[in-house]
Amino acid sequence: MNTRVAVIGAGPSGLAQLRAFKSAADKGAEIPEIVCFEKQSDWGGLWNYTWRTGLDEHGDPVHGSMYRYLWSNGPKECLEFADYTFEEHFGRPIGSYPPRAVLWDYIKGRVEKSGLRKWVRFNSPVRMVTFSDETKKFTVTAHDRSNDVTYSEEFDNVVVASGHFSVPNVPYFEGFSTFNGRILHSHDFRDAMEFKGKDILIIGRSYSAEDIGSQCYKYGAKSITSSYRSKPMGFKWPENWKEVPLLQKVVGKTAHFKDGTTKDVDAIILCTGYLHSFPFLTDDLKLKTANRMWPLDLYEGVVWEKNPKLSYIGMQDQFYTFNMFDAQAWFARDVIMGRIRLPSAEAMAAHGAKWRAREETLEDAEQMIWFQGDYTKELMDQTDYPGFDVEAVNQTFMEWEHHKAEDIMSFRDHSYRSLMTGTMAPLHHTPWLQALDDSMESYLEVKGVAAE
Ligand SMILES: Cc1cc2nc3c(=O)[nH]c(=O)nc-3n(C[C@H](O)[C@H](O)[C@H](O)COP(=O)(O)OP(=O)(O)OC[C@H]3O[C@@H](n4cnc5c(N)ncnc54)[C@H](O)[C@@H]3O)c2cc1C
Ligand SMILES: NC(=O)c1ccc[n+]([C@@H]2O[C@H](COP(=O)([O-])OP(=O)(O)OC[C@H]3O[C@@H](n4cnc5c(N)ncnc54)[C@H](OP(=O)(O)O)[C@@H]3O)[C@@H](O)[C@H]2O)c1
Repeated sequence: MNTRVAVIGAGPSGLAQLRAFKSAADKGAEIPEIVCFEKQSDWGGLWNYTWRTGLDEHGDPVHGSMYRYLWSNGPKECLEFADYTFEEHFGRPIGSYPPRAVLWDYIKGRVEKSGLRKWVRFNSPVRMVTFSDETKKFTVTAHDRSNDVTYSEEFDNVVVASGHFSVPNVPYFEGFSTFNGRILHSHDFRDAMEFKGKDILIIGRSYSAEDIGSQCYKYGAKSITSSYRSKPMGFKWPENWKEVPLLQKVVGKTAHFKDGTTKDVDAIILCTGYLHSFPFLTDDLKLKTANRMWPLDLYEGVVWEKNPKLSYIGMQDQFYTFNMFDAQAWFARDVIMGRIRLPSAEAMAAHGAKWRAREETLEDAEQMIWFQGDYTKELMDQTDYPGFDVEAVNQTFMEWEHHKAEDIMSFRDHSYRSLMTGTMAPLHHTPWLQALDDSMESYLEVKGVAAE
């Protein structure tokens, strides 16, 4: 096949794309030449932890938003690759909520086994992508940071897998410029120990708010106040955690909330989400969306309708993650290889409009999970991705939700059955609240705990 495909990003989404092509090659298909550009010096995307904040070693914005002591916030059984199980990777069953390093190891295992490192150009941020209507080709301009050389190459197709949880959304509140403490966005949060003994204020009500607050509680913050815009998270919080309506202003160290209450705080952590940002794309190629379950203009959530030679992986808000990226990547691969024929532009738009209409009726996390499960299934039904029982994954998500509602500080102490191998995960040897060491060595230590 005399075509070239550029994949931008070697995080879970980009690596799913590489794996999809390799899987076709392994089955005897002639595949395009694949070049994956990765800005960082290693693969794994957000799972490749960095201590850096602000700018990276080259002066580019730091991609990483993950922090020390981060554990999976959903059961690993809900994200397991259908073609590479946890049991295959670790040689035995492991707990259901692995810390970051363990998941990073798993992500890397599949692509290392497939020998895909040679497809990736590391330290190579993509600076610009343009499309020529004459040649019908893309020009990708990348910066080889190792040699400090900027160069351009032509490609027939481009897959954007650059993630969308790296550019912080940073609102302003009155008094911020004179606040007598530290203000940071969750993107720059790295170590909860920094907040030991402190009164902290968290703005936001989603996963970062919940988890960073929980981290701070676990590592000894004096108090946590979380301030919401739309509605409270509503979990049963520990004694020293209060949920309050939105912050109105800060005066000195005193935070004033919409219900008239106040609280003196040492630090404010803005868990206010991220912006989809593609500074390397021209406007005709650029996805513009908020973080939601069904961004428009992407056929099957993947193919850029205005120019189907361009695809995006992983651009939705996410309950499903790694296995949904796989389903998307297999679909994008088959479109690129001409195995899937796209309908007319009108039919693609109508298809997206139908999903968007359903998305707008979604009222809670459970409905969103079923929505994303149905979407993932629709993709899997169109390719040879090994596939899995979406309904069973959804049921595991439901159990997860139930365990969170029961006790937000111990939901990670449960375990679930693998939906790929049927094996029940063992309970982790130490309850999450007491497990202060998040290293892979500590997590994989066997201390003889029986399965639940
Ligand atoms: C704090 C946090 C915790 C999370 N925890 C979980 C969790 O517990 N479980 C879960 O399933 N999901 C979690 N997620 C969701 C996360 O989005 C996915 O797990 C996954 O990392 C998304 O993969 P991705 O490849 O789409 O994006 P990313 O992981 O962001 O990877 C994108 C890659 O693209 C590269 N890149 C970006 N721009 C360029 C460029 N111009 N040129 C070249 N390369 C570029 C980046 O360096 C990066 O390697 C979490 C997200 C955050 C922010
Ligand atoms: N492994 C883990 O434990 C872990 C930890 C952290 C994050 N994550 C992942 O990271 C991803 C991003 O999560 P996220 O929580 O950072 O982003 P998010 O889910 O997009 O949520 C953004 C939050 O910011 C709030 N917000 C935005 N602008 C605001 C403003 N001006 N004032 C007040 N509130 C404002 C929103 O409030 P409203 O809802 O009221 O609009 C929402 O609660 C998710 O995929 C999540 O799963 C995982």
